[in-house]
Amino acid sequence: MPQLFSNMTVKFNNLSLRTKLAISFILVVVAVGLASSLIGIRLVATDLVKRAQLKVQIDLNSAWMVYNDRLKDVETVVRLTSERFFLREGIPSGNWDELKRELERIRLENNLDILTLTDKKGKVLVRTRSPYTVGDDQSNDEIVGAVLKERKTTKGTEIIPQKELSKEGKELVDQAFMVFTTTPKAKPRIKDRETSGIMLKAAAPVFGEGSKLIGVLYGGHLLNRDYLIVDEVKDIVYKGVKYKGKDIGTATIFQWDVRTSTNVRNSDGLRAIGTRVSSDVYEKVLENGQPYIGRSFVVNADYITAYEPIRNIKEEVIGMLYVGILESPYTDRRNELVLSFFAVAILGIILALLMVVFVTSRITRPLDSLVFATEKVAQGDLAYEVPVQSSDELGNVAASFNKMTKVLQSSNEEITKRTRDLEKTNKELRETQAQLIQTEKMSSLGRLAAGVAHEINNPLTGVMTFSHLLLKNAKDEATRKDLEIIVRETTRCKKIIKGVLDFARETPPQRKLCQVNDIIGRTLAILEPQALFHNIQTERNLDDKLPQIWIDENQMEQVFMNIVLNAAEAMKGEGRFSISSSLNKKGDFVEVRMEDTGMGISKENLNKIFDPFFTTKDPQKGTGLGLSVSYGIVQKHKGDILVESEVGKGTIFIIKLPVDKKED
Ligand SMILES: Nc1ncnc2c1ncn2[C@@H]1O[C@H](COP(=O)(O)OP(=O)(O)OP(=O)(O)O)[C@@H](O)[C@H]1O
Ligand SMILES: [Mg+2]
Repeated sequence: MPQLFSNMTVKFNNLSLRTKLAISFILVVVAVGLASSLIGIRLVATDLVKRAQLKVQIDLNSAWMVYNDRLKDVETVVRLTSERFFLREGIPSGNWDELKRELERIRLENNLDILTLTDKKGKVLVRTRSPYTVGDDQSNDEIVGAVLKERKTTKGTEIIPQKELSKEGKELVDQAFMVFTTTPKAKPRIKDRETSGIMLKAAAPVFGEGSKLIGVLYGGHLLNRDYLIVDEVKDIVYKGVKYKGKDIGTATIFQWDVRTSTNVRNSDGLRAIGTRVSSDVYEKVLENGQPYIGRSFVVNADYITAYEPIRNIKEEVIGMLYVGILESPYTDRRNELVLSFFAVAILGIILALLMVVFVTSRITRPLDSLVFATEKVAQGDLAYEVPVQSSDELGNVAASFNKMTKVLQSSNEEITKRTRDLEKTNKELRETQAQLIQTEKMSSLGRLAAGVAHEINNPLTGVMTFSHLLLKNAKDEATRKDLEIIVRETTRCKKIIKGVLDFARETPPQRKLCQVNDIIGRTLAILEPQALFHNIQTERNLDDKLPQIWIDENQMEQVFMNIVLNAAEAMKGEGRFSISSSLNKKGDFVEVRMEDTGMGISKENLNKIFDPFFTTKDPQKGTGLGLSVSYGIVQKHKGDILVESEVGKGTIFIIKLPVDKKED
């Protein structure tokens, strides 16, 4: 069981948000709808049944009123007639014909079935309905007997045996006689027919002179097959209303368990005379003398019914009075209610579904756009903004998301900027490091070279002086030629040594305020007349507003000389050379730019050209000291030399010299 539950939880968690919401909504609506429908139906159904039972009880009371009214009518006629003069006079005089005529008129006028006069002992004197049957004794009759005994008017319902009925009138026997119709659910009886009748009967004493009892007058209304009372109940209580072709209300008078007077119809539409009551009612009402209220199947339909016993004057149960109302109007009403409850429940579910669609789309749409935005951001689009559609929690999430991407974006920009700065610093560091290495290399090499050069210089001077002397005095041509070679090579050695000493010169520059343009002018003036420059087009572009700076002009001249010569050699005496001077933007450096259209320097040589003795020229032509010496000089001036070159196109040298700095 817990396994099943956890499986269900996992399955539920895997559903989409929309489905989850839909299921929850519907479950709640169905549960609430079902519960309230069931409770409602139960309440309504019990209420309907209670109301119906209450109504049927009230209706039974009304039926009793009609029943008793009729009994009272019989009594009133009998009592009033018994007090009349013609009776008091008629009995002693024995004028039976006249009495009979008058009584018959009264009987017919008041709709009585019998009206009979006896003498003071109960022997019949006059029978209005059956005039020739007289002289029998009625003193054993319950009601007549009671009057004889009590001497006052008495009324009640009474079972009249067939023998007595036949005395009162042959038609009454026929009216009362009925064979039982087989009725399902009825209690089995040995008898299969009813011969006696049930009658509303009243008797009154007739007093003669001196209040002496001279006779008894009794009258009655036979209830068998007489529908006066039941139809009146139907008309008064139910106003004859019909429901689906059936009387909504019915009333019945039972003689014991047999319907003797009724407006309940059988399936042929005839009054259900002769049918019998169901056995449970039989037991409760007839055997136990208790009222019965409840549902019962009457002849062919379900009724909500009420039965109460009819008793004779001895209080013995002799029959029942019944009213019933058709159950179907109530059940139909209940079914309608059930249907409408369910209709409301279904409507609720449909509404809930619509709500789900509405609410979930309000929730999932912003979520979808959030997901989309997250993907965008993941792809690096930090500028993407989620549309903020509401001011609820989802709107807040969207707004926070946008805020977050903005912060991310700015920190990203910051990082990029810092990386750039770092790269720049790194590059500068590498350059400085390279410079440091160059400086270090040169200073150690310089010291070594200077020592060697110094030591060689003196003997070399000796060699040179003496070889010159020898050359002067040389007589034969061969010796002279050899000596000339010695002088030439020694001169070359001297030149190299001078270069080494220049390069390694420890002496600081002798600075004074100079105009760089002047130095450039002097340098070019010396070089331009040389043969090497004849086919070189020289351009100069010198800034005449250049400030004077603190430099050693001899050393600087040497630097320019070196670079211009290199350019001329690189162009092999043919091409265009341009030289320009300017002040940089900040105004703290004078820049001299020298550009040639020579062969250019390969990448691998570019970082070697400042090394001492690096040369690509033949040993006779170049020593490889020109640029390293120049580098040393510029360095001592706290300046810088930069090179840019492209093989086959040309080379640019830029010399930067600081302004306003006089240093020792
Ligand atoms: N303008 C230039 N164009 C092409 N290559 C150049 C240029 N200037 C210098 N070089 C290269 O740099 C090398 C070193 O130059 P550097 O002036 O130090 O020595 P050198 O000219 O070879 O000899 P030296 O100057 O002692 O007579 C040269 O051999 C040459 O290969
Ligand atoms: Mg050179």
